[in-house]
Amino acid sequence: MEGPRDPDLGSLLAAARGSYRRTFGADPKIAASAPGRVNLIGEHTDYNQGFVLPMALRMYTVIVGSPREDKIISIVTTAEEAEDPKKVQFPVPGEGLVLKPGEPRWANYVKGVVQHYKAGPLPGFNAVITSSVPLGAGLSSSASLEVATYTFLQQLCPDDRDPVAKALVCQKAEHTFAMMPCGIMDQFISVMGTEGHALLLDCRSLETCLVPLADPNVLVLITNSNVRHTLTGSEYPTRRHQCEEAAKVLGKPSLREATMTDLEKVKGLLSEEVYRRARHVIGEIERTTRAVEALKSRDYQTFGQLMVESHNSLRDDYEVSCPELDELVSAAMEIPEVYGSRMTGGGFGGCTVTLLESGAAEKVLRHIKEKYSGKATFYFSTPSGGAKAHPLP
Ligand code: GLA
Repeated sequence: MEGPRDPDLGSLLAAARGSYRRTFGADPKIAASAPGRVNLIGEHTDYNQGFVLPMALRMYTVIVGSPREDKIISIVTTAEEAEDPKKVQFPVPGEGLVLKPGEPRWANYVKGVVQHYKAGPLPGFNAVITSSVPLGAGLSSSASLEVATYTFLQQLCPDDRDPVAKALVCQKAEHTFAMMPCGIMDQFISVMGTEGHALLLDCRSLETCLVPLADPNVLVLITNSNVRHTLTGSEYPTRRHQCEEAAKVLGKPSLREATMTDLEKVKGLLSEEVYRRARHVIGEIERTTRAVEALKSRDYQTFGQLMVESHNSLRDDYEVSCPELDELVSAAMEIPEVYGSRMTGGGFGGCTVTLLESGAAEKVLRHIKEKYSGKATFYFSTPSGGAKAHPLP
């Protein structure tokens, strides 16, 4: 494994506490963590009411802090990649005071969650944020920050502990403070992740089903292309609109309700591009349900094949891949012990996810390094648990 990116949660917490002590001159009283995620299959299906199959990673955002007497919130990030300033102060919202997004951008995720947090009144607080989720790599650094913040606020001012409401508030923060019209997948898995399991989420009913993924014979490899994606660009909202347009022409509330046969019938009424977008989504929802069955019966061959079909569809029909991600997938698939590989997350850079036989790990890394024109970073992860509060001594 490469890179210092996966220190365990204990050392992250220790680092955050040390940094808090140096910044605020006292020990923090509260700590919370929330993981990043990788999506195994079901891409760009969440905002179409479809299925997704993510797992939480052993990469976390941690927040430690303490309440303060005045109504001021003071937060510091230790993330090197976060833009300056690394320390911000803003007032607790309420009594006519409404927080607005602004600069630096990293603070918007915290502000958004604070603004939309339902229980109250919140006290002021000091906090330090530390994370091992690489920023902008498509592993949900933003959702993990939102969910960690929410989990922190729950210690300061308890709410009704409804996990679905929690994920929805964090999604709202992303929509209104980061201006990213994301689906519900990232926030949901960061709240609901479970050790040793992938999580099948039905984004229409918000029902979940745990799928065991703890077989020592297989590994999940995440390969960072180190191409930065910016999902706040126009591509993501454009895809969302195209899907809504297709659903409207189909006369359905969402693409979840449509079949390939329905789509073929209205093909002439759609632009060629919108038709291909809808074809990806309808196919991907179906692939995800098949992939879950395959995973349950440890049929990794079928699972892997569906991963590759998903990648090809994201590349050709949905057009959210990029040459670097395609290169990484092709290189991985040249190794016979690799079951499947695909881009994961929003796309346009970020990471691929690869399922392989455990014994072939070294061989796969060597081959990808040799073949990839850029510099890749590798992470192995088994499915981790979701957000947690950590009692401090
Ligand atoms: C981003 C969004 C998710 C989801 C994926 C694509 O990660 O935040 O809601 O739409 O892209 O599957």
